[in-house]
Amino acid sequence: MKLGIMGFGNIGSALAEHAKKLDDKIIINYHDKFEINKKNINKKDSIEQLFIDSDAVVEAAHPSVVKECLSLSLKYNKSILIMSTGGLLGNEKLIEEIKRKKIKLIIPSGAIAGMDAVSAAALGGIKEVTLTSTKNPKSLGLELNERKTIFSGIVEEAVKKFPKNINVAATLALASKFKDLEVEIVADPAVNTNNHEVTVEGDFGRITTKTENVPSPNNPKTSYLAILSGMRALEKLIS
Ligand SMILES: NC(=O)c1ccc[n+]([C@@H]2O[C@H](COP(=O)([O-])OP(=O)(O)OC[C@H]3O[C@@H](n4cnc5c(N)ncnc54)[C@H](O)[C@@H]3O)[C@@H](O)[C@H]2O)c1
Repeated sequence: MKLGIMGFGNIGSALAEHAKKLDDKIIINYHDKFEINKKNINKKDSIEQLFIDSDAVVEAAHPSVVKECLSLSLKYNKSILIMSTGGLLGNEKLIEEIKRKKIKLIIPSGAIAGMDAVSAAALGGIKEVTLTSTKNPKSLGLELNERKTIFSGIVEEAVKKFPKNINVAATLALASKFKDLEVEIVADPAVNTNNHEVTVEGDFGRITTKTENVPSPNNPKTSYLAILSGMRALEKLIS
């Protein structure tokens, strides 16, 4: 099997390594702005060429490339795993088209818990969804001495303002199919984990989850659980 990796950064390289562990015969292709000096991985000069030359593709680059990846997955009928879930918002028509054509589209739960229950609850009707993400100011690029709410508003706006920090909000919006998801982002110098608290209320009752993520051992900007969740999703992609 030929696996394409769009974005060979922290997550992309971890997923390539995991793919090799799952199947040492797997061929890894990648597309990235940067040259990757690793043996046995093949650079492709464009995203389109990556899709043409691979059986399935992992997107682990940036929300801005997601639309093109979805279009190419449709054009070439290739299974796809999207890590930059923020980029899925606004592309619901393409997602529907991919589902209609029965192409495998995998969205990992990332750095958040309970998405299986939330998507089940959505079938019965959801009345309210809230997400509070609390991070150390440094991981949001801020210098603060005390706790401060830096954003409060709807999910689309949160994704525009914090594209690299708000994948969990997009994942929750997609799982719950709830348009008015309220997001609060809090910078707190007293925390050293990336915390996400979710509440969902609906005909089924109420769900409350809290995930306290430690940074990944190789890159403090990425939650370790997001990488592990990507690995688990990769197993589904190539199975
Ligand atoms: N779903 C989740 O819960 C979750 C959690 C963490 C990160 N993410 C997302 O996953 C993605 C990857 O995260 P990461 O930590 O590996 O980031 P990273 O910065 O370590 O790696 C991204 C790589 O993509 C490349 N890239 C970006 N845009 C590109 C473009 N237009 N063309 C070519 N190459 C491009 C960069 O050069 C870099 O090597 C990010 O969008 C991040 O927001 C999702």
